[in-house]
Amino acid sequence: MARLDVTETVQGVFFPGHLHTQDSLQQARSFHFQDSDTLIVTYPKSGTTWMQEVVTLVSRRGDPQMSQTVPNWERAPWLEQYYSSQVLGASQGPRLLTTHLPYSFLGNALQGSKAKVIYVSRNPKDVAVSFYHFHKMANFLPQPGSFKDFLDRFLEGTVHYGSWFDHVKGWTSQVDLVDNFLFISYEEMWLDLRGSIEKVSTFLQRPLEDEELKRCLCHCSFSSMKENRMVNYTLIPQDIMDHSKGTFMRKGQIGDWRNTFSEEQNCHFDAVFSTKMKDSHLNFVWEGPVKEGVSLREEMF
Ligand code: A3P
Repeated sequence: MARLDVTETVQGVFFPGHLHTQDSLQQARSFHFQDSDTLIVTYPKSGTTWMQEVVTLVSRRGDPQMSQTVPNWERAPWLEQYYSSQVLGASQGPRLLTTHLPYSFLGNALQGSKAKVIYVSRNPKDVAVSFYHFHKMANFLPQPGSFKDFLDRFLEGTVHYGSWFDHVKGWTSQVDLVDNFLFISYEEMWLDLRGSIEKVSTFLQRPLEDEELKRCLCHCSFSSMKENRMVNYTLIPQDIMDHSKGTFMRKGQIGDWRNTFSEEQNCHFDAVFSTKMKDSHLNFVWEGPVKEGVSLREEMF
């Protein structure tokens, strides 16, 4: 399936036609969840692949065999992508699923289900920068144009996959309503990977021995994943992802947005953010630690 220039639109949200069809998007919305399913939910560039790796490793007590032999899109398929029914049909045992869909698309399908949902958020300035660079290399996404133009579309919610604000607010407003919901952030994983793995293992009721935990830690580090062809997307042919224009495992930092945002873009972003998030109590970490143990700037809106 190439369809690199095709865009599918559902409820005003754009999706790349290379991976989605109207049928696959419709099927996802009426997906039949099983109580043993685990669903990773993210807005793109928020740490999806990282969480897929964590869950894969935790489920196998740190044994990297699967994460080093099966591509992430086969072991944790996106349920809205066209190939998912084929992959899931062949799968055995509890299923690990992924989605970028907003809550408004999946809420009904999840009603009454005991499937476990892991929502990973990331501060939206870093998401915007990561997404911008990803657009440059992913030939199934539109050319991003200048960063300023891309950022404007990101803030308006007219980029592919829709509005970051609607995504994070839609899903997190369900924390108390959806059974079995774990909310975790990219920054929390970055700042305390060990604690985050423990959190995931507790949530999945898969307690780990110390040695097993150490193995998980080692295999889902940035450096290890950057080398792992099953998650670094180098298996994707050049005409679909142009690897000369960037790498999927790009920087993996908190606060990299500072290297791209102008002062003016930052002020505009903050103004839009505080308006759109005024009814939300979510906290975001915008900067990485500057010196060891100090200067982590955490802002609350
Ligand atoms: P950057 O582009 O900022 O480097 P997704 O999987 O949702 O598409 O997110 C991709 C982003 O997560 C990329 O961010 C990538 O580098 C980062 N990432 C993936 N694995 C990571 C890890 N083990 N540690 C830190 N960041 C990671």
